[in-house]
Amino acid sequence: MRENLLVVEGLCKHFAGVVALDNFSCVITGGEIVGLIGPNGAGKTTLFNAITGFLSLDHGTIRFQGEDLTHQSPAKIASCGIARTFQRLRLIGQISVLDNVLLAFPRQPGEQLFNAVFHHQISQAQEWHNRQHAIHLLDEAGLANKTEVPAKALSYGQQKLLSLVCCLARDARLLLLDEPVAGVAPHMVDKTLSLIKDLIKEQSNHKRSVIIIEHDMEVIDQVCQRLIFIDAGTKICEGSPQAVRNDPRVIEAYLG
Ligand SMILES: Nc1ncnc2c1ncn2[C@@H]1O[C@H](COP(=O)(O)OP(=O)(O)OP(=O)(O)O)[C@@H](O)[C@H]1O
Ligand SMILES: [Mg+2]
Repeated sequence: MRENLLVVEGLCKHFAGVVALDNFSCVITGGEIVGLIGPNGAGKTTLFNAITGFLSLDHGTIRFQGEDLTHQSPAKIASCGIARTFQRLRLIGQISVLDNVLLAFPRQPGEQLFNAVFHHQISQAQEWHNRQHAIHLLDEAGLANKTEVPAKALSYGQQKLLSLVCCLARDARLLLLDEPVAGVAPHMVDKTLSLIKDLIKEQSNHKRSVIIIEHDMEVIDQVCQRLIFIDAGTKICEGSPQAVRNDPRVIEAYLG
């Protein structure tokens, strides 16, 4: 039986009269890739913002690996093992691709004064390890020949891949990917999807899970084992991709 990794219950969020989340609940188990689908403005990004502590909830609870993370800060939630990408990329354009990944690692050497002053050698070893791991991840993403170029010099698709690599660098148990392939050229889409699938395969007893927001149903079909359909902040239905696609409420929301 799979463990419940993330349990969210009764999430509510209003923005000045707009209901972004309306009593939304779901469970994500260890090792699954779940697609979060729904029309524009349905509340998908708001759900990610709520889970990662980027906005405060009106009501509801968020539990991760049994720990109550409701109302915790983004830094605390990230340290518990939840990483995310952003719909609008948040890379530092002026610095190199490699440095963007190195900055994403938790606990940068020198981040804490104590480490910087007293644990210089440990910091150096950690820095070397991070560097090797970052280069490995960039290689997997097909960006090995771009490590020294500024992030802003990458194509849009490459920047999206880089933001995924930054997310992977955190070695989180739950990854929240907000439209990782939207606007990306087809050959880059395949690269990104295989990276996401490898993520799940790579695990041993450390079962990672992914929630992926995506509008393209072909993409969803390639990677997701389960779908959650949200509209107007409410979970309308969930289940296998085929069952959700054939649900009349989903058909109506997309075609009606
Ligand atoms: N910070 C905010 N302030 C005010 N309204 C907001 C804010 N964030 C989201 N909303 C509103 O909440 C609703 C849900 O927005 P959200 O961004 O979660 O939708 P989405 O499902 O991610 O849509 P899309 O597919 O277009 O990215 C929308 O009506 C949006 O305008
Ligand atoms: Mg969104």
